[in-house]
Amino acid sequence: MPQSSPPIYLDNAATSFPKPPEVAETMHRLIREISLSPGRSAHRFSLAASRVIFEARELVADFFGCPDSSRVVFTSNVTEALNVGIFGLLTPGDRVLTTGMEHNSVMRPLRHLEKTRGIHLEILPTDPTDGIDPDDIPRRLGKKTRLIIINHVSNVTGAMADLAAIGSRKGGALLMVDAAQSAGVFPLDMEEMGIDFLAFTGHKGLFGPTGTGGFLLRKGLMAQPLKMGGTGSNSEYEEQPQLMPDCHESGTPNTLGIGGLAAGLEFIKKTGRETIRRHEEHLTGLLLAGLGRIPGLTVHGPQAGAGRGSAVSLTMAGRSVADLALLLDRRYGIMARAGLHCAPAAHRSIGTFPQGTLRLSPGFFNTEAEIQAVLAALDQISAGP
Ligand code: ALA
Repeated sequence: MPQSSPPIYLDNAATSFPKPPEVAETMHRLIREISLSPGRSAHRFSLAASRVIFEARELVADFFGCPDSSRVVFTSNVTEALNVGIFGLLTPGDRVLTTGMEHNSVMRPLRHLEKTRGIHLEILPTDPTDGIDPDDIPRRLGKKTRLIIINHVSNVTGAMADLAAIGSRKGGALLMVDAAQSAGVFPLDMEEMGIDFLAFTGHKGLFGPTGTGGFLLRKGLMAQPLKMGGTGSNSEYEEQPQLMPDCHESGTPNTLGIGGLAAGLEFIKKTGRETIRRHEEHLTGLLLAGLGRIPGLTVHGPQAGAGRGSAVSLTMAGRSVADLALLLDRRYGIMARAGLHCAPAAHRSIGTFPQGTLRLSPGFFNTEAEIQAVLAALDQISAGP
């Protein structure tokens, strides 16, 4: 394979690339045309900036089946969103049920609260391929179970949890969903799925820029804010307002990024989420079928089908995953991620800790030809010295 071939980006689970042109155009227009500080002043630029945020909030609420856009809070990423939910909802003695596929954005705050707030953490039995069995949940619910935290689609294996089944078995607990890898590709409806706290990132399947994300909090539920400060509202008081979403949005927001995120959502609406999902499923199917024919390769996680995301994890006999990623990049121009993907728990569950895996994650803008190119490269590496 000639080294001069155009580079191939297969790291969409880290962040999607490229972004739709509309995203860049919107951000370029906004930074040229308005001052981007919303809700602080009454002049036309400030009002225009407020409109950018409001329209984005409405789009997000509608996209995730939330009837009230004031329940949408913007954060700088999904990690911050999950931290608000975990720190803001749990009190000493609470029990939490979670899975063996969680990212450190969930595990680190939980492990911290085990030590500092005396919360009790229970990891549901997690099958390396199928994840958790929703029927295990009712068996493990107790009076003190405050939260069930579920990774919708694994950033390591692409395994997908059955949220509707989990939501209907949550009893009196709250259901928190980490939708980092699924938002924009798979259906997510807070009302239908019984989700109380939905954390999303803006820069993966929603096609926004990095530095964007947020959460949706079910009506009637309050979480303690993680940060406090100026909100542009109730400024006569030195106490943090209780008002949603202001209580969680102190400080000048990332209006530029949120405008870009709104353009990403508009792109999904125009293209059709189902069209995006089908294309990714098709490419993932091609990839998995081809990987199955390469000697010495092991795929860790679910096989092809509608019930998985596009992240595919693999190891190759006789080669470290770091080596493999380096060879793919330097010799073939193929970008992939190797290692633990900030999810050591998931790698323990699938038996690839501590070396990790090579992860290939196709996205909407990848092509069949690019998948064939990565298969040819891996075939050549596997046959090589
Ligand atoms: N958590 C992101 C990933 O899996 C960054 O790459």
